[in-house]
Amino acid sequence: MSAVVIVGAQWGDEGKGKVVDFCTEFADVVVRYAGGPNAGHTLVVGDEKVIVRLIPSGILREGTRCVLGQGMVVDPSVLIGEIDTLEGRGYAGLAARLTVSDRAHLILPYHVLVDSLREGGKGAIGTTKKGIGPAYEDKVRRTGVRAGDLRDLGRLRARVEAALEAWLPTITHLGGRAPSAAELMEPMVPLAERIVPMLDNASKLVDDAIRAGRRVMLEGAQGTLLDIDHGTYPFVTSSNAVAGGAAVGSGIGPNRISTVLGITKAYTTRVGAGPFPTELDDRDGQHLREVGAEFGSVTGRPRRTGWLDLPALRYAARVNGLDGLALTKLDVLTGMDRLKVCVGYDTPAGRTSEFPIDLLDVPGVLPVYQELAGWTEHLGEYRTLDELPSTARAYIRFLEEGAGVPVYFLSVGPRRRETIVLHNPFVGRAAAP
Ligand code: GDP
Ligand code: IMO
Ligand code: MG
Repeated sequence: MSAVVIVGAQWGDEGKGKVVDFCTEFADVVVRYAGGPNAGHTLVVGDEKVIVRLIPSGILREGTRCVLGQGMVVDPSVLIGEIDTLEGRGYAGLAARLTVSDRAHLILPYHVLVDSLREGGKGAIGTTKKGIGPAYEDKVRRTGVRAGDLRDLGRLRARVEAALEAWLPTITHLGGRAPSAAELMEPMVPLAERIVPMLDNASKLVDDAIRAGRRVMLEGAQGTLLDIDHGTYPFVTSSNAVAGGAAVGSGIGPNRISTVLGITKAYTTRVGAGPFPTELDDRDGQHLREVGAEFGSVTGRPRRTGWLDLPALRYAARVNGLDGLALTKLDVLTGMDRLKVCVGYDTPAGRTSEFPIDLLDVPGVLPVYQELAGWTEHLGEYRTLDELPSTARAYIRFLEEGAGVPVYFLSVGPRRRETIVLHNPFVGRAAAP
């Protein structure tokens, strides 16, 4: 009677979508607990590729209830667009399996406008320009509009007017033109009609499901190093992406969570600005980008690529309390002669095995690498650990020892079947009748 958290252990895009989709075979309810349409989670079923931004990655498994938790920020037009696109691709009746927390905050056009205007100026950090930061600002400023406000259009309009008034000086200062409340409300009416039937008290729904013995999965977005508190501030997103955010963002007590599964690539990527100590600007970096198809699933931006950073992974293990890892994209390393892994950092104060997260921009703080042998075999067809080349097994062992966390799932390709299960935390968690 407990929930499993799936959390990104790096800077996002670790393959959470693939792992959640794979694990949904063992889940009855999947809850997204943070972020919004800045996320892009890729699911590959057969030869079909689906990218979800707001909808939880369990949606392609019939019979699974998918919940947008109150830790999320939801853009109503993006949500409806996503539902229509998926239904148009043959996933009929999908809206009936979706629940939207009535406490989730809405992303409205003025949030997207402010995000875009700011990104055009000096303070740009390379956001996804989806209005994430401004929507969370509204939440904390207590001027936010919540999904539950869609139930009463009069109340919705009053809240939109108050929020607009609060944003007006910022929009004017940034050289933008604020929309009027009337302009904003017109498209909201049909969107509200579609979203209101999906609204519910998600906290109670999820807690009831756990009490009834249903298997609940809490799906993170972004990653540990993009977390507002534990990431590389200020080059972060505006929510708690870490596992601690799963309890708050889904509305359950932390003691309802039994297992935390961290997702990490076999190397590292980052989109947007900010420190990335193991970043590569050479043929190895190009190999990772091209073979790993490292282009943003939301913005199409080329992802920055680099070697695996073990101190950063240990940091993620600590701040999330990771029980196990899903190691993805091991297949992408095929063909690289020598693999480097960051095992520590040189700093002006000496060598450390800690991730020096607050010193990453200090001159002289540099990663220390250990080299490991590569392999040439294509891994996509392997289904057990024993079949893997010995150098690949050595790489996994090195990672497990360095991170201090065992690998539960090994992903050797984007498809469901390209997964090796070493330990399944869902087994023994029977489905409710
Ligand atoms: P997410 O945001 O964490 O869900 O990750 P994204 O979907 O943004 O990016 C991960 C990308 O890697 C997607 O294109 C996936 O289809 C792909 N992917 C996931 N696991 C693997 C893997 O093991 N090998 C390869 N080659 N691709 C993978
Ligand atoms: P998933 O869930 C990778 C990054 C942006 C930017 C910073 C802030 O697919 O892993 P924001 O729009 O959130 O204000 O941008 O965070 N970012 C992501 N990078 N994967 C994501 O999501 C991301 N969501 C936000 O590139 O650097
Ligand atoms: Mg992504």
